[in-house]
Amino acid sequence: EEHTDLIIVGAGLFGLTVAQQAAENGYHVHIIDVREHIGGNAYSYFDKETGIEVHKYGAHLFHTSNQRVWDYVNRFTSFTNYVHRVYATHDGEVYPMPINLGTINQFFHAAYTPAQAEALINEQAGEYANVEPQNLNDQGIKLIGKPLYEAFIKNYTAKQWQTDPEKLPASIIRRLPVRFTYNNRYFRDTYEGLPTDGYTRWFERMIDNPNIEVTLSTDFFDASQELSKANLRGSVPIVYTGPIDRYFGSQLGDLHWRTVDFKEHRYDEVNHLGTPVMNYVDADVPFTRSIEFKNFNPERTEVAEQKRTIVWDEYSRFASKDDEPYYPINTAEDRERFAQYKAMEDAEPNVVFGGRLGGYAYFDMHQTINSALIAWEKQVKPLLK
Ligand code: FAD
Ligand code: NA
Repeated sequence: EEHTDLIIVGAGLFGLTVAQQAAENGYHVHIIDVREHIGGNAYSYFDKETGIEVHKYGAHLFHTSNQRVWDYVNRFTSFTNYVHRVYATHDGEVYPMPINLGTINQFFHAAYTPAQAEALINEQAGEYANVEPQNLNDQGIKLIGKPLYEAFIKNYTAKQWQTDPEKLPASIIRRLPVRFTYNNRYFRDTYEGLPTDGYTRWFERMIDNPNIEVTLSTDFFDASQELSKANLRGSVPIVYTGPIDRYFGSQLGDLHWRTVDFKEHRYDEVNHLGTPVMNYVDADVPFTRSIEFKNFNPERTEVAEQKRTIVWDEYSRFASKDDEPYYPINTAEDRERFAQYKAMEDAEPNVVFGGRLGGYAYFDMHQTINSALIAWEKQVKPLLK
């Protein structure tokens, strides 16, 4: 092997973006990942039996209003004209999401105009106008009124958190967007779409550079391997995108996450849900939502029209140590602990911490890429000779 200027721990979008930038600037980069594939949580594969693109760690929809990020990603992939829409099943009926004029009129069996619907929601929310919300229930009612909150938010949130909303902090929901038009386009960003030939082809093109070497199935904390924390200590600059608590041996305790379990079903039907995402917002369905992957790519007509489909039901729960960490729980205690770990980074001048695990935060893909482009300029490049 030639000399290595930079080691990157994690082949997710943060690590891949920094690697791409460094390689383009002439540096030799070595990426390691404990998983057997690149792409981190945005990785997808084409199912052998059906040819359907399956997003292994849950549905990923690309969207951004950041021109720099959009220009950057378009260097490596084109995007389909997919537009994300979500429906919800409640009490034996299907409603459009997020809550909009269509949802409201269907729910109240009415034909309200935007002004009438807004007046109604304000009146219903007004019940809690002078109440300081003590928990998520109060907060939800204060934001959109009891009928809509209890139908569409309460039980869904309880399933996501495995906790009665009366025991959840009000701060989890700062706002509940209600639209007083029939627009049910889920994202409001300037750009939206899915990578034309799949997520993984996009990521492969990012690192298609002789200056980049990738070693998979390699754990940074496995001291028996060459590119481990124990063996590298200080010798080469490192970009670390794994969990920040793990880096410091969890010496201040663990940061807490939620995870998602997926239950796969295969059907001999052209279409099972009739849409990519169906939320189940009532308590009697144990999962939060179902994903029908082929419906993300209706332009792949041969795959889309075959009489075979894959559906995943999503069950949300608290992550234990061996689970994939997905969403930071972010209690006050977690935030305090994260701040303490963050302060420990100062003792590691040759290491740049980044990404969602390094930052103990939820980032969409475009935010991850943006922060990686900034980290490259401001933190990583100055470390390289
Ligand atoms: P990751 O993708 O997690 O990559 C980190 C990598 O580090 C992993 O591959 C991991 O294996 C590796 N690693 C960790 N520890 C070690 C170690 N000890 N040694 C070696 N390697 C290690 N974003 C959107 O824009 N749209 C969406 O629709 C969307 N949906 C999402 C749905 C779910 C369920 C989740 C969890 C996230 C979703 N996201 C979505 C966010 C998106 O996944 C992230 O923005 C992106 O994956 C973050 O990239 P990253 O590099 O920071 O982290
Ligand atoms: Na540092």
